[in-house]
Amino acid sequence: MVLKRDNTRMVPVFIFISCILTSATTNAPHKMNNQKVLISSNDFPETGLKVLHEHFTVVQSRFNNFGEEGLKENKEELLNLIPGCSALVWISHHPITKELLDKAGPNLKMIAAASAGYNHCNVEELKARGIKLSNTPNVLSSAVADIAVALMLAASRRFTENLGQVRSGLWRIGFQYELGQEIRGSTVGIIGLGGIGQTVVKRLVGFEVEKFIYTGRKEKPEGKALGAEFVSLDNLLAQSDFVVLAVPLTTETKLMINSTTLGKMKQNAILINVGRGDLVDQDALYDALKSRRIYAAGLDVTTPEPLPKDHKLLTLPNIFILPHIGSATERTRSDMAVLAANNVVNALQGKPLITPVLQ
Ligand SMILES: *[C@@H]1O[C@H](CO)[C@@H](O)[C@H](O)[C@H]1NC(C)=O
Repeated sequence: MVLKRDNTRMVPVFIFISCILTSATTNAPHKMNNQKVLISSNDFPETGLKVLHEHFTVVQSRFNNFGEEGLKENKEELLNLIPGCSALVWISHHPITKELLDKAGPNLKMIAAASAGYNHCNVEELKARGIKLSNTPNVLSSAVADIAVALMLAASRRFTENLGQVRSGLWRIGFQYELGQEIRGSTVGIIGLGGIGQTVVKRLVGFEVEKFIYTGRKEKPEGKALGAEFVSLDNLLAQSDFVVLAVPLTTETKLMINSTTLGKMKQNAILINVGRGDLVDQDALYDALKSRRIYAAGLDVTTPEPLPKDHKLLTLPNIFILPHIGSATERTRSDMAVLAANNVVNALQGKPLITPVLQ
């Protein structure tokens, strides 16, 4: 056997050795390149990538972690890439499975979810395995609150019907046709006065709302500062002209808007959901809108997502639906990415998480 000397192979070895020497001499602060961080999707903002690249070896999926691709191609990709990773940046609302956690192995110390909600993160399982979890609250409150207000306007001013007229060229022009409801003078009831709920109240200040009320697990000091009154759920449903869902999805809040609670709402009430689809029993909502038991609904979240294009909700004139775009602005997605990345940095450097769910 002839041993052929291959000089090209020596080049990477040389670079590797000089890197070690350079980093030893310059002593790059906290550069822990032996730690691998996996990003679950191919669409992660540059700003967040930059933070991770400064500290770790970054591994990123070639696929998108949303929709069908997320459930099929990307699943395999992630199972292949995750072994040995120390942290996972989780983008999308697909569930974090036991299978993925098993594949990761004992190195996995933390998961940074790039979302405010973490109902998809298998919290009990992470807790049992001692894996930390962070989310990205607050940075997305403004963008999501904007969408809540947009949905209030769209549903109250009948955008679905009116856009349908423009598209068909058949305008019903008249003094009393297609009249809507106003925010002015209304009672706005917020279910869940967290970061998003509070920002909705702030956004609506110029709309001459008559009264803000809210419900949740407990009264909040921020409520008083915003001039919002804490009431029971039943009281809120009975009084509100707009009911805004801005609450996390938990076992307690799942299907909290159902035939019973819809039955307690005013006939002119408009339901807005910027939380999660499963807060609402969609069959009951369909019936309530169809029979005009309530006036209209505006949804940024549905079950499932995507909502099939032949879904019965889409046959209703008095509903306006968006494809879960609450936090989808350039600025907010960048802020979410940087926050998720900095949570990873803190976790792997033994510092407290910035926005912990499981510390
Ligand atoms: C409807 O929601 C209310 C409030 O969350 C709950 O107490 C009730 O059990 C639910 N009813 C049904 C039929 O699901």
